[in-house]
Amino acid sequence: MKEVRSLIGFNVLVEEMKERNSHLDDMDYVEMDLTEPMDLLDSDSFTCIIDKGTLDSVACSEQYSQRAKQMVENVHRILAPGGSYICVSYARPETRLIYLKDPNFKWKVDTNKIAKKSSIELFERLDQEQFYYVYICTKNY
Ligand SMILES: C[S@@+](CC[C@H](N)C(=O)[O-])C[C@H]1O[C@@H](n2cnc3c(N)ncnc32)[C@H](O)[C@@H]1O
Repeated sequence: MKEVRSLIGFNVLVEEMKERNSHLDDMDYVEMDLTEPMDLLDSDSFTCIIDKGTLDSVACSEQYSQRAKQMVENVHRILAPGGSYICVSYARPETRLIYLKDPNFKWKVDTNKIAKKSSIELFERLDQEQFYYVYICTKNY
């Protein structure tokens, strides 16, 4: 396997993940704020970036709009041509595509839905979202 890097927001998680995955080769953990300029990481250097809940988390934080925009700009910069940013989210397209579909980005965005496992009646009763969303942004060559 080629090197896998995990970009994590908090140091305590770096230690925990190192321990939990000590049996895996080629793993590297970096503590980093994804909403700050990420000068440590080269442009066009990641073939795949998987995000489960991080953009959601940033989009719920203070100054969410500016921070989410900066995070997605960073991801776009470090993603290699032909590579994909896979963003698993609770949020509907109208609240995520505003960040992902920036005219300056050289990528194509596909939106996918995964039904949550429960009855539609229950979701309707609780007025809850019935789907998870997976946004796949594939950078042009
Ligand atoms: C909902 S949790 C998801 C964690 C993990 N991906 C999972 O699915 O179990 C959101 C994660 O986003 C990280 N996060 C939030 N803001 C961040 C930021 N500005 N930079 C880097 N990571 C951040 C948090 O540290 C947390 O681990």
